[in-house]
Amino acid sequence: MVYYSKKIMEHFLHPRHLGKIKDANGVGDTQNLRCGDVMKIYIKVEKKDGKERIKEAKFETLGCGHAIAISDMICALAEGKTLKQAKKITFDDIAEQVGEVPKPKLHCIRLAETALKSAIKDHESKKKK
Ligand code: FES
Repeated sequence: MVYYSKKIMEHFLHPRHLGKIKDANGVGDTQNLRCGDVMKIYIKVEKKDGKERIKEAKFETLGCGHAIAISDMICALAEGKTLKQAKKITFDDIAEQVGEVPKPKLHCIRLAETALKSAIKDHESKKKK
């Protein structure tokens, strides 16, 4: 049986960032082909004081409890950050935020990292158009 920490359970049962951002200007989609979990991160980036900042981040995830909880945590981690800071969020930063995760669930963190990076990339490519 997979172990769920208190923190994971809290974010799984009461996610604060669940849903879609209708006017998102960055969307990142990713899937783990082995487990089939799918994660989508929406970001709303606004320019303030000359810096682009993630004003809001939300997610839609079809997957395990860890994937859902970690999606919620990465949105919380990204919100309020400048794009420059958000781009530097690493696997280790997320792992530190998430806390205890059983080894077979570590890839859920990688999925969240990829989804956020892909949302930022999407935002940047939309800007160029
Ligand atoms: Fe694959 Fe959670 S089991 S992302």
